[in-house]
Amino acid sequence: MLLEVRDLHVEFHTRDGVAKAVDGVGYGVDAGETLAVLGESGSGKSVTAQAVMGILDTPPGRITGGEVLFQGRDLLKLKEEERRRVRGAEMAMIFQDALSSLNPVLSVGDQLAEMFTVHRGMSRRDARAKAVELMDRVRIPAARERVGQYPHQFSGGMRQRIMIAMALALEPALIIADEPTTALDVTVQAQVMELLSELQREYDMGLILITHDLGVVADVADRIAVMYAGRIVESAPVHDIYKAPAHPYTRGLLDSVPRLDLKGRELYAIKGLPPNLTHVPPGCAFHPRCPLARDVCRTDEPPLYEVSPTRGSACHFWRECLNG
Ligand SMILES: Nc1ncnc2c1ncn2[C@@H]1O[C@H](COP(=O)(O)OP(=O)(O)O)[C@@H](O)[C@H]1O
Ligand code: SF4
Ligand SMILES: [Mg+2]
Repeated sequence: MLLEVRDLHVEFHTRDGVAKAVDGVGYGVDAGETLAVLGESGSGKSVTAQAVMGILDTPPGRITGGEVLFQGRDLLKLKEEERRRVRGAEMAMIFQDALSSLNPVLSVGDQLAEMFTVHRGMSRRDARAKAVELMDRVRIPAARERVGQYPHQFSGGMRQRIMIAMALALEPALIIADEPTTALDVTVQAQVMELLSELQREYDMGLILITHDLGVVADVADRIAVMYAGRIVESAPVHDIYKAPAHPYTRGLLDSVPRLDLKGRELYAIKGLPPNLTHVPPGCAFHPRCPLARDVCRTDEPPLYEVSPTRGSACHFWRECLNG
């Protein structure tokens, strides 16, 4: 395993109490593999990623337990200086909003070139040539002419390509993309996702793709981990999930994706809202919203049951769910 997160816990101390934003999360990704992390807003997807990358704001956040094994080392045990080195060269992150991640007063060429002068000790001239090469790789038209332009001179889709280029620059083993296409319109979303997926295969990287949109993961993910209220509620190969979800929450997410083959059908929406993480319902956190809930769900917290050797579900009634 390239990356293995084990039993990770992250808390936020807020005025309302302690929010267990990440409450025992485990997931893994191999080289050349894409793991999609799915779940509604506020379920802990980004905080988990920030803990993995070592960019969690501490305080207010605090890692209270777990391991982040990357190429065999527990990153949580590294000194900040070593951590920074790993973060620069071996793992990279792509964010939703390129405009706030890129430096507005530096040309994109300078920002890309800086990766090579700072981390690889290249001359400015060589670094500039690499910057153009990277812009070509992410298919920015007329890269040579545009290398001197500033982030705001590019469209949203092109900026997202520049973010991908920045992430790829040092050829990291792992990329975490946190809602990389959420801010784009649908056709551009598909192009950016396709590009990311293609480069991931070409470079044989591990990719963690965080999204709240099941629609984008079908073609690119190998595995899916579904998060709810700070926990993984289902984890499975993507085909298994599409064939039949083993958790009612996953089913709800699937049923709320527009499908071309079911045009005209009314879109389903999961009723209610995700809980505030300072006041998570007892038992199964999903029970107030779950169509299959019964008494035991209100008192007994489901463990992650083994559905198959490659699949887990945190639902007491996963069998029933699986059989539709
Ligand atoms: N800066 C913060 N202060 C307090 N609580 C936070 C903060 N950031 C995140 N949280 C808590 O962590 C939870 C998970 O947030 P996040 O990982 O960003 O969700 P998402 O799944 O949308 O990426 C939030 O619901 C909230 O309870
Ligand atoms: S444990 Fe109960 S409430 Fe939770 S998802 Fe399963 S059926 Fe629904
Ligand atoms: Mg997020």
